[in-house]
Amino acid sequence: MEMEKIVALCKRRGFIFPGSEIYGGLGGTWDYGPLGVLLKKNLKDLWWKEMVQLRDDVVGVDAAIMMNPKAWVASGHVEAFTDPLVECKTCNQRFRADKIEEIEDHKKKHIEKKEKAEFTEPQKFNLLVKAYLGVIEGKQSELYLRGEITNGVHVNFKNVIDSTRIKIPFGIAQIGKAFRNEITPGNFTFRSREFEQMEVQFYIKPVPEEGKKWFEYWKKNRMDWYLSLDMNKENLRFRDHTDRERAHYAKAATDIEYNAPWGWSEFMGIHNRSDWDLRRHQEYSGKNMKYKDLMTNEEYLPWDIETSAGVDRSTLFLLIDSYHEEGDRIFLKLHPKIAPYKVAVFPLLANKPELVTKARSIYENLRSKFMTAWDARGNIGKRYFAQDEAGTPWCVTVDFTTLEDDAVTVRDRDTAKQERISVKDLENYFRVKLE
Ligand code: GAP
Repeated sequence: MEMEKIVALCKRRGFIFPGSEIYGGLGGTWDYGPLGVLLKKNLKDLWWKEMVQLRDDVVGVDAAIMMNPKAWVASGHVEAFTDPLVECKTCNQRFRADKIEEIEDHKKKHIEKKEKAEFTEPQKFNLLVKAYLGVIEGKQSELYLRGEITNGVHVNFKNVIDSTRIKIPFGIAQIGKAFRNEITPGNFTFRSREFEQMEVQFYIKPVPEEGKKWFEYWKKNRMDWYLSLDMNKENLRFRDHTDRERAHYAKAATDIEYNAPWGWSEFMGIHNRSDWDLRRHQEYSGKNMKYKDLMTNEEYLPWDIETSAGVDRSTLFLLIDSYHEEGDRIFLKLHPKIAPYKVAVFPLLANKPELVTKARSIYENLRSKFMTAWDARGNIGKRYFAQDEAGTPWCVTVDFTTLEDDAVTVRDRDTAKQERISVKDLENYFRVKLE
């Protein structure tokens, strides 16, 4: 699978565009188009349903992106949220020192031009993005756009317990934007400077056996979820972090990796953050962050088992994983639950008012139930082609026979097979398939 094909399809069909493209773009930023925004929303809604709606032990929050900067000192990000950076002494281009292949490729380019190919010693480069708040020039306070969405959850740990009376073990879920001054954004949206995360911080008793149990539980839970979205099993695997690569807050960390066109790459992470965050916030804020077990009167700082997934990375890997070519046909075999549109409705001929009127009435009924597309442009083949590339699972065509038998042709995206369904049964037909 070549990435160029995915990037071109995303642009052509309106999934993803380069950020502020008409001004030459802004490195590491991406804009989601009409199809992309639906795909991403469906993914987030499904995640929220699975993680919050269907569970007794997880509640949600939506914390502010801008936080008191002390929170980032407490969480260790000001000191330790760094990547090793090296700079090319010839052209000043900067690289992550651990991206050996990228550095070697760059060296080769200079050597071919008979230029010096030397790099500076690695230095620590902090990834937090700074911002300035306040209305008086010169007296603005410096803060950070959140580098991970996690901190907004931990600082609300007590608020959530006090307002819900939820008991350990329990989780707090959040979806939102994060910002990182990545040294080398790349591979399309894979490594961006602005991206979205969906996370659960799951608080447990601070006991190693509990830590192990819940760590394994969340690993399986997350892998099963991606498989339930019809992702190919052979493209997913677990990889434990080595001691050297583990983040400053993590006691243990495992990634789910995806077999991307450029090689196995981090998809999402499961981390045992122990009591790192609550302990540090307690220390830096002076507020008691301990949990009190009301049955035993025991007080402790819980451990946190975190599952953290990139929304953009999940979207990208779902697009790559679902990309199919069969002869001339290109189609996205997206799970119907995440497909941007569930159904597309067409009149066979756009210049026959009786077909258009009938098709419009079917479309208007279906769109109040499911995300439904309308297409009356070009010929039927072109419409199928466009809907296949959009990943629309079913296309409904209204033809002349419809006017007599009140039935339509439903064409399946994956098999291209067609069947005749009565208009009165259509809604239920799709509802059953989407369950
Ligand atoms: N709260 C833990 C945390 O943020 P992380 O491994 O740094 O851990 C979690 O990030 C997930 O967020 C990653 O597995 C990835 O899916 C996504 N992510 C991280 N950096 C990203 C970036 N620069 N661009 C897109 N997604 C990113």
